[in-house]
Amino acid sequence: MNGPVALGEHVRLVPVDESNRRACLALRVHRTQHTLIASNEKSLEQASKNPQLVTRALVAADRVVGFAMYERRRDGSGYIWRVMVDEEHQGHGLGRRLMELLLEELRAAGLRPVFISHRPENRVAAQLFESLGFFEVDFEADGEVVRELRPATAGGQGDDRSAP
Ligand SMILES: CC(C)(COP(=O)(O)OP(=O)(O)OC[C@H]1O[C@@H](n2cnc3c(N)ncnc32)[C@H](O)[C@@H]1OP(=O)(O)O)[C@@H](O)C(=O)NCCC(=O)NCCS
Repeated sequence: MNGPVALGEHVRLVPVDESNRRACLALRVHRTQHTLIASNEKSLEQASKNPQLVTRALVAADRVVGFAMYERRRDGSGYIWRVMVDEEHQGHGLGRRLMELLLEELRAAGLRPVFISHRPENRVAAQLFESLGFFEVDFEADGEVVRELRPATAGGQGDDRSAP
């Protein structure tokens, strides 16, 4: 173990492939977060069977520190299903950076609107997503809160739908 990485170190999103798959599988959330997100093993298995699912590793200082999975939906929308930062690296701004990089990628791919969901008791995720411009729009059958990225209001940080 080399200790947590600093946000100032180069942070990027890369596709999950054979070079980093094992590192993604080794990422762990805190035991109190196990009920908040499916394992990366399950996500990678789902993605292997569904070409619309896109998986990404968050790399900082050449170490894999987080993981995300989103769906390119047939109707042109994007749905972020999973975002996680390894427990050793949480609380240092990497989760927010992961979300910003994901949103840049979805915007560049022309996916809109963008949805995300989380367990209702997941206050850290709720506040993070809200601060990025995601508003509650629905509930899934399993009780997950569904949020949609809405256009920015003056001074806000929401989606800019006029972007090319
Ligand atoms: C949600 C998650 C990705 C955030 O990652 P992170 O690296 O800790 O996030 P950051 O350090 O960028 O913090 C983001 C915000 O949450 C706040 N936060 C982070 N951990 C917190 C905690 N334990 N308690 C209270 N606030 C917390 C930070 O203060 C920050 O707020 P700010 O930017 O307004 O200051 C991470 O907690 C995680 O992997 N959780 C388990 C999986 C999960 O719940 N995923 C979301 C649903 S799919």
